Amino acid sequence: MKFHTVEIEGIETLGRYVLLHYRWEGSIEPGQFTMARAAGYPTTFDPFLARPFSFYDYDGETASLLFEVRGRGTQLLAEATERIEASRPLGKGFRVDGVAGRAVLLGGGVGVAPFKFLSRRLYELGVEHDVALGFEDEGVAGVAGDFPGAKVATMDGSFGVRGTVLDAVGDLSEYSAIYACGPNAMLAAVKRAANGAKICQLSVEERMGCGNGSCNGCVVPTERGYVRSCIEGPVFDAEVLAW
Ligand SMILES: Cc1cc2nc3c(=O)[nH]c(=O)nc-3n(C[C@H](O)[C@H](O)[C@H](O)COP(=O)(O)OP(=O)(O)OC[C@H]3O[C@@H](n4cnc5c(N)ncnc54)[C@H](O)[C@@H]3O)c2cc1C
Ligand code: FES
Repeated sequence: MKFHTVEIEGIETLGRYVLLHYRWEGSIEPGQFTMARAAGYPTTFDPFLARPFSFYDYDGETASLLFEVRGRGTQLLAEATERIEASRPLGKGFRVDGVAGRAVLLGGGVGVAPFKFLSRRLYELGVEHDVALGFEDEGVAGVAGDFPGAKVATMDGSFGVRGTVLDAVGDLSEYSAIYACGPNAMLAAVKRAANGAKICQLSVEERMGCGNGSCNGCVVPTERGYVRSCIEGPVFDAEVLAW
């Protein structure tokens, strides 16, 4: 995998998440991801493997990543000041053609990440849409401020309605397209609630080693057996996933 050393244009916090902007020229589709790591490799080998991140936004010049600091890889990215290393955009993003009516974007926790960019794309296409976000608590829900008008739920009820993102959004049958990203349990619940909706696309966040199809570390079960989510995903039609 080729990595590009890219200049950081800014880094800020949104609630408890980190938002990092870097300069990028080329096409990116909403739902695609990059493998990123702090600059320094191979001098430091720290971290040894890059980590996958959805594109939070892209305006043709500046790409943004929104991430939660979980371990060493994200900690080092959060501490970066001048540059990071990032791969080209990878994977298959959200399909946005053929949406006949209103769409809804459902994000769970940092699964909100691909929806700023998807919302931008739907807006450009004239597709009306709602955004519903679910978080553990008010501290993490701070990112919701970047989604004006979003319906918000928190598990502890400290912000928005109490419950999951599905409690925030209500009846899914009124939407002609459903897009979701978050933990697998949330995606499985969205798939059940979508009840065979014509367009229901789910972005999975399996752990990834290589990001280019070499390690088989990111497989997900489908009706035709296991497939690599870095190549055939991370966005899948809901009916394809064998959950
Ligand atoms: C396609 C894709 C897109 C992603 N987009 C984003 C994003 O936009 N923002 C973001 O914050 N994260 C995103 N992730 C998850 C992100 O890659 C991990 O949080 C990151 O790799 C953690 O690296 P680390 O070194 O900080 O933590 P590690 O030291 O590797 O792990 C720390 C802890 O986090 C847990 N963890 C690591 N990866 C995951 C995962 N994929 N799902 C659940 N738990 C995990 C580990 O089990 C461990 O408990 C995405 C993952 C995928 C596959
Ligand atoms: S991350 Fe290695 S095959 Fe997908």
